[in-house]
Amino acid sequence: MKEQQERLTLALETSCDETSAAVIRGGREILSNVISSQILLHRKYGGVVPEIASRKHIEHVLPVVDEALKEAGATLQDIDVLGVTYGPGLVGALLVGVATAKALSFAMDKPLVGVHHLEGHIFANFLAHADLEPPFIALVVSGGHTSLIHVRSYSELILLGQTRDDAAGEAFDKVARVMGLPYPGGPHIDELARKGRADAIAFPRALSGNQQLEFSFSGLKSAVLNYLNSVKQKGESYVPADVAASFQQAVVDILGEKTLLAMQTLKLDKLVLAGGVAANSGLRQHLQNLCQQHGWELLYPPPVLCTDNAAMIACRAHYQYACGGPLADLHLNAVPSLPLGTVE
Ligand code: KG4
Ligand code: ZN
Repeated sequence: MKEQQERLTLALETSCDETSAAVIRGGREILSNVISSQILLHRKYGGVVPEIASRKHIEHVLPVVDEALKEAGATLQDIDVLGVTYGPGLVGALLVGVATAKALSFAMDKPLVGVHHLEGHIFANFLAHADLEPPFIALVVSGGHTSLIHVRSYSELILLGQTRDDAAGEAFDKVARVMGLPYPGGPHIDELARKGRADAIAFPRALSGNQQLEFSFSGLKSAVLNYLNSVKQKGESYVPADVAASFQQAVVDILGEKTLLAMQTLKLDKLVLAGGVAANSGLRQHLQNLCQQHGWELLYPPPVLCTDNAAMIACRAHYQYACGGPLADLHLNAVPSLPLGTVE
């Protein structure tokens, strides 16, 4: 086996609506990161249709692997470690990646590592920031998760708290849908919010003001839907930009409050953002201000590494393998609701 920094990892990601394969060298250097997105296909249904997603993954997975190897200038024989997302996600979608990775691992006799999708999102930051080292706090905000994680080392990820109900991204997508914006709604709300007044409508900030590291977004989502319904029922009009800005501000305020609490409780000075919602400009600005006030460093990946991609999965697989993490065998299965981190 090669030295760690020369090791080539090939990883697959098929947990939702992106079929992706990537090759990285060592833990930090991306040689290729091929992403085939199905977003346009699902847009007409207003969200991801699991059955269609699985079928498209089956069509795309092998061409995407070939492309990733070609771009990296590597062959399957050159690969040292294989990584694959095995949860959380859509079961039928995950299974395509898992079955493909197991077949490659068996045929090539290469070690296989099963990767947690959200841990991949956190590890995208190691690809984006060459000098980043644990410990730090990670705020993971995606379509399916909203969690605060203490990344104590490359192998110890401690769950500090998470959402009790909806994820932040889910709330963004549902509000956008009701406002007639295309799927996925987060980026559209973000765009619209820039033109609106964040203090126009007083939406609730659930679990604010207590010492719990927990989130809840279902009440906020309902409050926005109720607001829109009552305006329509009265035959009045509303300002979409004000609704977007006020909703986004409520999400950002509560994410900021709980992140501040986590940073102060654990006395750490590095904050890392991960997941699709980490691309939100309002959230970045708010956390940037917070970090500046306290002398903390804020890190987040560039947009292509914020949304689903296999390079982040390869990075997580590399470090899991390097830390002697458990290897997967042919029994590896998709786990749609795989929990994130350990609880202390
Ligand atoms: O991490 P991700 O690509 O997929 C999951 O693992 O869920 O996150 C997708 C989520 C969607 O809910 C999408 O609307 C949201 O990230 N998103 C955003 C922005 N860009 C993507 N939400 C708010 N503002 C954005 N700029
Ligand atoms: Zn994701």
